[in-house]
Amino acid sequence: MKLFYWVAVPMLIYGVLNKLFYTWLPSQYVFDPKVLQALAKESIQAHPGDNTTEIITDLIPRIKKEYGDKAVINDLNWEEWVFNNAGGSMGNMFIIHSSISEYLIIFGSAISTNGHSGVHFADDYFTILSGNQKVAYENQVECSTFFPGDCNHLKRGQVTQFSMDGGSYALELAQGWIPAMLPFGFVEVISSTLDFTTFGKTCYYTAREMFRNLAQGKF
Ligand SMILES: *[C@@H]1O[C@H](CO)[C@@H](O)[C@H](O)[C@H]1NC(C)=O
Repeated sequence: MKLFYWVAVPMLIYGVLNKLFYTWLPSQYVFDPKVLQALAKESIQAHPGDNTTEIITDLIPRIKKEYGDKAVINDLNWEEWVFNNAGGSMGNMFIIHSSISEYLIIFGSAISTNGHSGVHFADDYFTILSGNQKVAYENQVECSTFFPGDCNHLKRGQVTQFSMDGGSYALELAQGWIPAMLPFGFVEVISSTLDFTTFGKTCYYTAREMFRNLAQGKF
């Protein structure tokens, strides 16, 4: 009987979430990866020179103008950047939007980073803003390189190794079951960094944004 619960209940929950992922969940998405990529390209073109500060300072108001009436979009706030350790990579990020079905962040590294993409219950759209990202799937011995304006779409469940040179940043949109992605982002706090301050800040900002969005009907 115990075995039944430990096997059947998770399978049942997974089955329901999986079905919803293809049916109801997409109806909750407000962001369009193509539109975000177009906005990113506008900001990159307006600020040639690969300067991350200038590009994101330009980009976030564009995103707010496009989506501010449909979801909570945060203004760029240098006090709310957090480190992120996941899959062996370390970078820093700023949360522009976070809800149950979507998140939108600026992610990258001033130093450089590389690691495992993670296996996500979500589609991930990684539009390069500055620098570059190198990506390889498990059967690739020559990497694919993404440059500013390019969007690397990591489909749900797919896995890559990736690296980013120092000074590379991207606009990352994830659409799917966001809470299911969080353990990937948090497990290294316990297994490696013991940085509970960063953990606390990340949890606080993520939860705050999820509640703020829910409060205005954005799931
Ligand atoms: C990028 O732009 C910011 C703001 O204009 C400036 O302070 C910074 O020095 C620039 N960085 C580089 C590497 O030029």
